Amino acid sequence: MSNKRISDKMEALLNTQMTREAYQAQVYLSYGSWAEVHNFDGIATFLYGHMQEEREHMFKILKYINDRGGSAKIEAIEAAPVHPKSVGECLQNILQHEIENSAEIDKIVNLALEEKDWATFSFGQWFVKEQIEEETLIGDVIAKYSLAASQNAEHKNLYEVDKDLKTNPQSATIPREEKV
Ligand code: FEO
Repeated sequence: MSNKRISDKMEALLNTQMTREAYQAQVYLSYGSWAEVHNFDGIATFLYGHMQEEREHMFKILKYINDRGGSAKIEAIEAAPVHPKSVGECLQNILQHEIENSAEIDKIVNLALEEKDWATFSFGQWFVKEQIEEETLIGDVIAKYSLAASQNAEHKNLYEVDKDLKTNPQSATIPREEKV
């Protein structure tokens, strides 16, 4: 008797997502290298850090497929896109990649719901939450970049004021940073 506890369809979908997470890592790696070459060291560090996170996502899915009695297949990874022309374009592109990735995660959760595969449904929730965090984080970075890069002096000052406020001590926890 087979010990497989995911459907063939779910196994294939998870496998596709595993490869997509590897692709996400390629995007961050490529953009991180681009940033480093252009001496944007902070941005490069941010992007390299995310590359590592995407690899962890890839591995998390591989483990899940195998743990549920499936067999993960390591497939070819699409080449990373061409280098961006500016930091603004770089950030917008990675946000777009994350939004598209969220839509792919939704497909897993939708199929899990359809199949009443509650284990995968629960597994998928981790990724749903992770995507919310990533989209929010990159959106915040874009907003900061827009202020810092603005030709408007008031906007630049706002950027500095905002930085100061962020480092101000406070006792309350920001709800979105609370771990549930
Ligand atoms: Fe694993 Fe940023 O998607």
